[in-house]
Amino acid sequence: METGEVLVIDLFAGPGGLGEGVSSVADGDGNKPFRIGVSVEKEPSAHKTLTTRAFYRKIKVLDGGLEDYFNYVRGKLTRDEIFELYPQQAQEAIYETLEEPRALGEDNDLIHSRIRELIITHQGPKVVIGGPPCQAYSLAGRSRNAGIKDYKAEDDHRNFLYKEYLKVLSIVQPDVFVMENVRGILSAKLNGNVMFPQILQDLRDPGLVTEVRGVAKYRVFSLVVEANDPSDPQYPDSSDFLIRSENYGVPQARHRVILLGVRQDIAHVPDTIHPMKQAVTVEQVLSDLPPLRSGLSKQKDIQKDWENQVQINAKKLERILKTRFESGAVDKLNLEPMLDLERQSSLVSELERIIPAHLEDWYLASHPGCVLNHATRGHMTSDLLRYAFSAAFTKLSGGTSPKARDYPLELAPDHENWDSGVHVDRFRTQAANKCATTVTSHISKDGHYFIHYDPKQCRSLTVREAARLQTFPDNYLFEGNRTQQYVQVGNAVPPYLAQQIGNIVMKLLE
Ligand SMILES: C[S@@+](CC[C@H](N)C(=O)[O-])C[C@H]1O[C@@H](n2cnc3c(N)ncnc32)[C@H](O)[C@@H]1O
Repeated sequence: METGEVLVIDLFAGPGGLGEGVSSVADGDGNKPFRIGVSVEKEPSAHKTLTTRAFYRKIKVLDGGLEDYFNYVRGKLTRDEIFELYPQQAQEAIYETLEEPRALGEDNDLIHSRIRELIITHQGPKVVIGGPPCQAYSLAGRSRNAGIKDYKAEDDHRNFLYKEYLKVLSIVQPDVFVMENVRGILSAKLNGNVMFPQILQDLRDPGLVTEVRGVAKYRVFSLVVEANDPSDPQYPDSSDFLIRSENYGVPQARHRVILLGVRQDIAHVPDTIHPMKQAVTVEQVLSDLPPLRSGLSKQKDIQKDWENQVQINAKKLERILKTRFESGAVDKLNLEPMLDLERQSSLVSELERIIPAHLEDWYLASHPGCVLNHATRGHMTSDLLRYAFSAAFTKLSGGTSPKARDYPLELAPDHENWDSGVHVDRFRTQAANKCATTVTSHISKDGHYFIHYDPKQCRSLTVREAARLQTFPDNYLFEGNRTQQYVQVGNAVPPYLAQQIGNIVMKLLE
């Protein structure tokens, strides 16, 4: 690590969205000040993704490095082969991700000693980033736990992972920390008490919790509401920490709590990130990706069968839609199946690109010349018609995905209580003309909430499409099987948002 560089310690790193954004920040001379020293992640596939990305960052600046990386992602070189070509960089990448998946709280001896090693030899500023997951915060986690007999939130160690974050703060005493979490952290309760004020207090004074003496204290700022007078006891209000990603150039309504901690001896007050006037739509960022057909699950997947099924569906759909929309508008949709669609494609299409300028460079820089992680799932034939209906309805209604009550009886799934209100939103099309709804890890379970807006493709989004909505660059490879890839993408901080946060941190440290 060179003097003056900012050492980044990335905890609960997932596939590395925060790290990607921060490490891509460049100063006026094009230098990139942030260097990730360590990324800690316990889930094996996300860990593998992190290692691959760390390796990519190290070899892309070398002669032939990018080309070799592209050969790896295209499957022309195996992981072992490319690691053998760049043994030093491979070793450094493996070291950066602690050789193996590691869990904070379980592998602390190793994790803490590695962090100590890094900070002893580092001269410049230090930053800790990451978001400790918590069952009690996430609304999904809360409802899952409510179904567990004798579940006691106070006994669930997963509710206290943020204390692992505090331990690392106590060791590193970074100049700045960035902590991301779900919105539920603002309202989560433990023993009837709202947890957030205590969490905030603990972050301001981590030494008090970790019982380490002399640990630096922090002021915690919002990244979206200006601190005109940070000593104002009203600042920041809990809600000031909520960032609505869609206001900051991300094509997705992802609302996350992000806290910016600044060590008390640093007098500067950080800037806030600037909202963009225009929201980015789903179509703008997905329309240039190769169209694909869905697969057929629970039966042999044969292309002709898919085309025949979609052909049959087209007739039904037309009839149904004409009972709800003006006939001319339905005719214009042309629901006939596209022939010869594949289930996966790595070929960059020649479709027109309508990506807004700020994201075009971001997605396409150092492009691998192929499309990664772009393969569809299989769907049951009954769902093909529902997906096509949902997508067509959304288009004809100007961007409103149909609710359960909008489905004709013949499309209602076999749920006894389909009409009861429980399934109001069982299927959701990501409307072409709006930003997407939050991409969550639930996308790994089924694609019902993430239906592609094109009624002719009858499918849910691919990992690459979800990655575009999360603003991962096109050359970002997600390792693991498809389910694991979806989880990784759904868990991440949008790197484009993270870069804006990184810009603020850079300015603060100048
Ligand atoms: C919300 S994701 C983090 C996303 C990440 N900050 C990003 O920017 O992409 C949380 C991650 O923490 C990991 N995790 C959970 N418990 C952990 C632990 N005890 N130690 C390390 N990682 C953990 C999960 O596997 C998950 O990948």
